[in-house]
Amino acid sequence: MLLSLTDVKKTYLTPGYGERREVLKGITFDLEERGTLAVTGPSGSGKSTLLHLIGLLDSADAGEIKFKDKTVAAMGEAERDRFRNREIGFVFQLHYLLPQHTLLDNVLLPALPGARRGDWPEIEKRARRLLERTGLKGFERALPGELSGGERQRAALARALVNSPSLLLADEPTGSLDRDTALSVAGLLRELNREENTALVVVTHSDELARGLDRVRRLENGLLKPLGPR
Ligand SMILES: Nc1ncnc2c1ncn2[C@@H]1O[C@H](COP(=O)(O)OP(=O)(O)OP(=O)(O)O)[C@@H](O)[C@H]1O
Ligand SMILES: [Mg+2]
Repeated sequence: MLLSLTDVKKTYLTPGYGERREVLKGITFDLEERGTLAVTGPSGSGKSTLLHLIGLLDSADAGEIKFKDKTVAAMGEAERDRFRNREIGFVFQLHYLLPQHTLLDNVLLPALPGARRGDWPEIEKRARRLLERTGLKGFERALPGELSGGERQRAALARALVNSPSLLLADEPTGSLDRDTALSVAGLLRELNREENTALVVVTHSDELARGLDRVRRLENGLLKPLGPR
């Protein structure tokens, strides 16, 4: 199993009120290698919170998260950072590309921490290939501000894949795009998740995107519920 969550809980202190709010009340699911899951649910239901936990960006208050049979809570900070960098690619609703760096450099950035000097030509070749695959050949030296929203999101997808992660996490990756652009970015996300053999967890309100995935779940009142027959 690539990822398993067992009875995972997350509570936030409401800012200013000192009240505790249990956002995730016991999330349990498994994701196999190359498995795909869509998560929907109302605003504020905890979808991003869940992705942050799966992405090792935040830690759970209770329950267990295992990634490749390793208990995440038992990892030291440095180990967790290395693990996250190598195993997980992120795409968010906003692209978070660095505005003063070229597209190629943006895509290469996640590869910096783990790279040895001799690896670099191969890594750069991969980054260029991903830009080509995302329809951005010729844009290597462009700055993010010179691109359309869809092009930026495709570059963010190339960046998420540069380290050949085993898991791709996407938080409303098409949420800020118009309908046609959203459909094409969603299609590309699916194609690349297949081609690159990653698992995929995507938070989305797009039926078109959710429909093609192994499972669709709705997060509501702190719990993940099946949606429809799957
Ligand atoms: N760092 C934090 N500190 C305190 N409360 C938080 C924090 N992050 C999120 N929350 C609260 O937890 C709840 C869930 O937030 P989350 O961002 O996970 O929801 P969401 O389902 O992703 O919503 P949306 O669809 O609007 O993106 C919200 O009520 C939010 O205010
Ligand atoms: Mg969110």
